[in-house]
Amino acid sequence: MSEELIEKSKKLAAFAAVNENVSKSDRIIGVGSGSTVVYVAERLGQLENKEKFIYVAFDGADEIDTNLNLIKGGGAALYQEKLVASLSRKFVVVADFRKQSPERLGHFWRKGVPIEVVPNSYVKVLKDLFKLGANSATLRDAGKAKAGPVVTDNGNFVIDADFGEIPLNKVKELDEKLIRLVGVVETGFFVDYAEKAYIGNEDGSITSL
Ligand code: 5RP
Repeated sequence: MSEELIEKSKKLAAFAAVNENVSKSDRIIGVGSGSTVVYVAERLGQLENKEKFIYVAFDGADEIDTNLNLIKGGGAALYQEKLVASLSRKFVVVADFRKQSPERLGHFWRKGVPIEVVPNSYVKVLKDLFKLGANSATLRDAGKAKAGPVVTDNGNFVIDADFGEIPLNKVKELDEKLIRLVGVVETGFFVDYAEKAYIGNEDGSITSL
């Protein structure tokens, strides 16, 4: 799979999402993080909206199921991104073709769901996750250059918990169990947030959900 093709499909999705969801009167525009929303910013910069207030938010995703449930947090920005999503009247997702699950979450993003946790609770939360049926749960490492766990913008840690493939109607239930665990700040499941998703395909077409 060529990098060029992936970049092209990201740009395709991002431009289509902006073209179809931003009008001249929209003044507040939220943008999440990731390599796909870079193209959203590029397109927004070409528009002429002068006054600003938040109306529509655009963000990438690590996986999207056919019910528009998302897994996010690949870049450890899940809390801030959910905040933006929850503040926006319309939340639009942009992604390349690799992110669309044929049906259920867990198909593509094999790392599991990212979960932001308060640092002193991570050992307890890891145990809780196994009790809830996780196949694996690991503290995200910052890599050789930084040595130690990833630290989020809020000073917390991130656990990646794999629950296998999750049926469409079970995502919310699992998310509610996770968010109730003491020590969990936020999960990377975005349920009932996305109103639309634009997926750039390999053949140059766009799938919109
Ligand atoms: C960061 C995210 C990103 O939006 C997600 O990882 C998608 O990124 P990309 O567009 O680079 O594939 O959730 O926490």
